Amino acid sequence: MNVIEFKRVAKSFGDVVANRDLSFEVKAGTIHGLIGENGAGKSTAMKVLFGIFPADSGEILIRKKPTRITNPVQAMRLGIGMVHQHFMLAEPETVLDNIILGHEPGWFPGLIFRDKARKELTEISKNYGLAFDKWDVPVSHLSVGEQQRVEIIKLLYQRSDVLILDEPTAVLTPQEVKELFQNLLRLKQEGKTIILISHKLKEVLEFTDYVTVMRRGETVGTKVTNETNEDELAEMMVGRKVSFTYQGIRRILSDSTEIPSILKVKGLSFKGLSESCVDVTLNLRQGEILGIGGVQGNGQSEFLRFLSNPKEYFHKVSGEYTIRDQSVLADSPLDLRKRGVSLVPEDRLAEGLLLQQDMTENFLLGQHEDPRYQSKFPGLLDRDAARARVEQNIKAFDIRPPYPTVWSGRMSGGNQQKLVIARALDSKPEILFVAHPTRGVDVGAIELIHEAIMNERNAGRAIILFSSELEELIDLSDRIAVFYGGRIQAEFGRKEFDPWKIGKTMGGGNKE
Ligand SMILES: Nc1ncnc2c1ncn2[C@@H]1O[C@H](COP(=O)(O)OP(=O)(O)OP(=O)(O)O)[C@@H](O)[C@H]1O
Ligand SMILES: [Mg+2]
Repeated sequence: MNVIEFKRVAKSFGDVVANRDLSFEVKAGTIHGLIGENGAGKSTAMKVLFGIFPADSGEILIRKKPTRITNPVQAMRLGIGMVHQHFMLAEPETVLDNIILGHEPGWFPGLIFRDKARKELTEISKNYGLAFDKWDVPVSHLSVGEQQRVEIIKLLYQRSDVLILDEPTAVLTPQEVKELFQNLLRLKQEGKTIILISHKLKEVLEFTDYVTVMRRGETVGTKVTNETNEDELAEMMVGRKVSFTYQGIRRILSDSTEIPSILKVKGLSFKGLSESCVDVTLNLRQGEILGIGGVQGNGQSEFLRFLSNPKEYFHKVSGEYTIRDQSVLADSPLDLRKRGVSLVPEDRLAEGLLLQQDMTENFLLGQHEDPRYQSKFPGLLDRDAARARVEQNIKAFDIRPPYPTVWSGRMSGGNQQKLVIARALDSKPEILFVAHPTRGVDVGAIELIHEAIMNERNAGRAIILFSSELEELIDLSDRIAVFYGGRIQAEFGRKEFDPWKIGKTMGGGNKE
């Protein structure tokens, strides 16, 4: 039976058509993939289904009945629940309060039976095999994977039987991804329907029953997952063939030992907020990409924060950090920028963008002192110059919608990411720290971003690449250092790259 049917659904935001003509069906009790390029309209389509936006035209049938969903409460009553691309939990509140928010059991407003809720939740997590017991912990203390589990439990508590997951794996570690899919398969067995938005074609192929491809607001088609493959799906999405590994030329460092290191970290130790670094030593040469891998929570994030803002750690670190043999331990991010350092931060929303400013303003962030963007009048910015530069980047990175005046908060996730990358490369930095450059980015754009990073490398820039995708590290890096428990557990040269061996050290194993 079809539990959901989209019939010629359309939704625009002003001039931007997000969903042009969307028709597809989702069968009950299946996992249904929804894929498409960044900005294709996937999140919008699901927000229409969940009642966040009204459709402009067309029809949605829920269990065969034409239904006009006008708000999420109504959607929840119809058994539809959604976990958003960017989670929406209230961080300082406990897990329990987050879950029962709006559904508090109790007689009077204000009187909440937390014990009853706790019992019911324990039951739910047991029945669906979702191991969890941190009901009274503030959400901010949970890992991303745990937060996501809470979101799913919340949907089950609300008795959803259609679960929409918008890019659930983009921010998870490989272990968490595995657990998530075990949970989803279990939910399917229990009769739930799952709509899964993802850019990771491998997981779509492995875990879904059907997959619908969207392109520029329209449905290209729906495939039985067993009857399709990565190449076909990618071509349906992008409209051209896509290569999955970097195909260009990797300029060989003449003799790597002859090239002096531009950046050095020696014996670095400190205790951070959630992670620590212990005796970290590494060197970075021009024209190379040093990949940093590891399971999330093993010190890499804190290490990146230190690298990009050493001043904040000044009082608690021991060890050395030099750029061109000068200590930068007291440097602020701005000082580092002046030394030619540029950053693509881990979290594009929290650290990378002002959501209520347009692309041009966002592009200027951190570049206010760049001579290229100064007007004739001292202290005033030449916004036309900046806008022209943004327009070039919109073309180069295929950023959509292609208008410099679009608020960055209104861009799709992958397009926000492209903007952050374009900005980081704009100043022609000599040293680049890049974190998760292709998180939430579609296959075509991954190709583009990888090429851009590789071009920087070949032009002699020194790059540290943080990624939780082993494939990405192996594809781009010249060397890979693996973090475990705050230390560098192992370092691999390109000739030694072997996913299995590297993976082993990520779990704390030895290199040999
Ligand atoms: N609230 C909004 N206001 C204005 N435009 C929006 C809004 N939300 C989305 N859009 C636009 O609608 C189009 C579709 O965006 P949507 O977020 O649905 O894409 P997506 O397929 O989910 O992409 P991604 O894979 O990058 O998450 C984009 O051009 C986007 O800029
Ligand atoms: Mg989206």
